[in-house]
Amino acid sequence: MLNFTYQNPVKLIFGKGTIAQVKDLIPKQTKILMTYGGGSIKKNGVYEQVKAALQGHNVVEFGGIEPNPEYETLLKAVELCKKEKVEFLLAVGGGSVIDGTKFIAAAVHFAGNKWDILDKFAPIQRAIPLGCILTLPATGSEMNGGSVVSRRELEEKRFFISPLVFPQFSILDPETTFSLPNRQTSNGIVDAFVHVTEQYLTYDVNTPLQDRQAEAILMTLIEEGPKVLAHPKDYGARANVMWCATQALNELIGCGVAQDWATHMIGHELTAFYGLDHGQTLAIVLPALLTHQIQPKLKKLVQYGRRIWNCNQGNELEIAKAAIQKTEAFFQSIQVPTKLQDYKIGNEKFEAIAQRIVNRGMKLGEHQAIGQKEIVEILQLCLK
Ligand code: NZQ
Ligand code: ZN
Repeated sequence: MLNFTYQNPVKLIFGKGTIAQVKDLIPKQTKILMTYGGGSIKKNGVYEQVKAALQGHNVVEFGGIEPNPEYETLLKAVELCKKEKVEFLLAVGGGSVIDGTKFIAAAVHFAGNKWDILDKFAPIQRAIPLGCILTLPATGSEMNGGSVVSRRELEEKRFFISPLVFPQFSILDPETTFSLPNRQTSNGIVDAFVHVTEQYLTYDVNTPLQDRQAEAILMTLIEEGPKVLAHPKDYGARANVMWCATQALNELIGCGVAQDWATHMIGHELTAFYGLDHGQTLAIVLPALLTHQIQPKLKKLVQYGRRIWNCNQGNELEIAKAAIQKTEAFFQSIQVPTKLQDYKIGNEKFEAIAQRIVNRGMKLGEHQAIGQKEIVEILQLCLK
């Protein structure tokens, strides 16, 4: 096992009817900015629940944070925070609203060019405290210190990580997810699934506990995912998927293991250039990446194939190949396409994507062995 430090300060409140508890989590005299997205919370009753709970509080609002939150929009919220002397941020929505709110929290007190937070990993000295009410299980942002922000003007999608932007609390009421369109439900299942594989399908460092924790999440997603798609108001299944997504990226299963994240880095570029949903990009890149990296990942792929998909026929290579096929078939079975061709995307940007990642001084994968040439090869495997 590799050395690790684990600290997760997020107070997690889970279950039916829990949104009302927000009133006790933020002191009354605190000036709050409530942030949200394009309006889903006004259609599914979440907005009313939050407003009712915070009746006695001093709340200003900032709506309109886009999926793949836009830098320029977030800068407007930063100005509002300064003008209104906001002391606490309450994000109500999916990963984009939460990530956007983390950026706002960090940017308000950041002197200098705020793009440096994302472009140069400029250190964050101070952040406004924040809390979340999650409506879309997918990213794990409700229980981690990461944030991903897009800047469409530059066709960029970048991230930053800071312990100062862990939410103080996150409220997860599975009933808020009943209104999700199937596309977003499926995206969320794929995202959580791939968060696990990024931390599990690498190389063996003797971590049987973490492996089985990862496998538990994968198996639960495979069982419960199709249930929520077939029955969007199945509370039990929604609750299980929601808890899986949080567990997939609250850093617990990443303790002491080798981590990959190449699928995410390449996927982010597909969103930056083509606007695909985050989950859609992962469903395309993961099977291609696993195929390309089948040799260095062989031992874990065989374990995954045997334990998750019951692949036992043939030699190790055949088991690994079968496991990758099963993974791809699972994504397709929940209506997430797995090829660029499905979105009529060709190879025009492959060199630009690879060049850009390399220009940031990054080599990808758990062995830092995926460079420019390999990124292009992986993207070729994504085509059809
Ligand atoms: O904007 P509104 O109107 O709220 O609608 C949203 C949006 O259109 C809608 N939605 C959310 N909850 C709903 C709902 N519609 C009906 N009922 C509900 N209960 O869903 C759409 C997508 O929302 P979004 O927040 O964009 O989705 P998601 O949670 O998948 O977040 C994606 C973003 O998170 C980043 C991604 O890159 C992407 O920018 N990620 C963040 C991570 C992190 N912070 O740790 C890790 C991830 O790997 C990921 O990169
Ligand atoms: Zn993700």
